[in-house]
Amino acid sequence: MIGTLFTLAPILVFSTLAISFISISLPRFLKKLNINATNRVSFANKNFLNTIAKWGLGLRELKRYHAKTVFSKVIAVSSNKLEDSEINKMRVIAFSQFVQGIADVIGRIIIPLIAGVLYFEGKIKFGAIVTASYFVNDIFNSLWDFSNNINLLNSSSDLRKKITNLTQEYPHLESKKNPNKIKLIKTTNLVKSFTNRSQIKYPDIYIKKGEHILLTGVSGCGKSTFLRLILGIEKPSKGKVEYYDNQNQVIIPDFDQIGYIAQDVTLFPSSIRDNITMFNDPLNNKVSEVLQKVDLDLSVKEIGSIINPDNILLSGGQKQKIILAREIIDPKSFIFLDEPTSAIDTKTTTKILKIISELPSTIIMIAHNLTPKQKLMFDREIHFSKKGSDENDNT
Ligand SMILES: Nc1ncnc2c1ncn2[C@@H]1O[C@H](COP(=O)(O)OP(=O)(O)OP(=O)(O)O)[C@@H](O)[C@H]1O
Ligand SMILES: [Mg+2]
Repeated sequence: MIGTLFTLAPILVFSTLAISFISISLPRFLKKLNINATNRVSFANKNFLNTIAKWGLGLRELKRYHAKTVFSKVIAVSSNKLEDSEINKMRVIAFSQFVQGIADVIGRIIIPLIAGVLYFEGKIKFGAIVTASYFVNDIFNSLWDFSNNINLLNSSSDLRKKITNLTQEYPHLESKKNPNKIKLIKTTNLVKSFTNRSQIKYPDIYIKKGEHILLTGVSGCGKSTFLRLILGIEKPSKGKVEYYDNQNQVIIPDFDQIGYIAQDVTLFPSSIRDNITMFNDPLNNKVSEVLQKVDLDLSVKEIGSIINPDNILLSGGQKQKIILAREIIDPKSFIFLDEPTSAIDTKTTTKILKIISELPSTIIMIAHNLTPKQKLMFDREIHFSKKGSDENDNT
């Protein structure tokens, strides 16, 4: 097309190229404006959802104090901000189209104008004006679509980068492709730094399939963080966590095959039975047996009763027993337990430890204050010092 235009008159080509260049470059200048507008919408959207989540949970409390209007007000403020950011984004898109449109109109007018001048100077024939207008129209039509699409693409470039980083930070999102063949978990030079400049350095740890490990250390030395690091819930600041299979190949494990009891137990607002079976009905007939194992004496009626998150009828220890029953009823091949018996008496703890010790699963359990006899129910103990730098083996 440019070649045909060139045969008509080189000046037409250079003018077309110059205006096309300006038109193509405009998205680069408008990029920051578009990104900011999209980020503002994303930020406002996130705040809006957070507001609903935070205030929604406390709705009952607000109702108790006849303060429902507070909820309407905060939701209104948050949704107004979201609306403002949407309007602002539309304004930025309209502005980008306007600027792009100026370049487009200039191109469509100037090229035929130059062709006209050349015709009057007798440098080109009349047919060339028509041909030039026709070509120029085609070129600028394509450029118009191209530039507007680039503007739209640019506007979300920051968000796309964040989404890519997120999927890299949480490899388990992709992990289901790999079967569960973990033979060894190995950590190397693991360091976790926090924004408040505190830092935890870990010794290199090997956990072999089938081992039952007790993880101890003073409060705050980084035990819970360690479990979250090997579970991929948190990303190491330095070093790495590797899972190996039978062939000593590094694999991305199926994290769904790892049972995890976090330090703060959460129960779902459903029946105690559902909280144990995790809605897997074929396990229902094993519920009373497993409750006996964890020493939780409940009637069938109580097992079927719905747990209210605000319910004070369940003690801390009872909640822990429900969660332990969840892990025991259908044990996963790896089970990580973060102080699962901290609110349970010593005698029952011994009973539960015995059941755990008989599981064929690989176990890592964090616990404080176990008796020497209870400690012996594990294959070995890993002890983190204050700086997380030494390891003891009690086998
Ligand atoms: N998100 C975070 N931001 C800042 N610091 C953090 C964060 N998470 C953990 N830490 C710090 O890391 C340290 C270790 O925390 P972690 O919960 O792993 O300790 P722990 O050994 O499990 O303690 P405990 O026995 O009391 O449960 C703490 O001193 C805490 O201040
Ligand atoms: Mg902890």
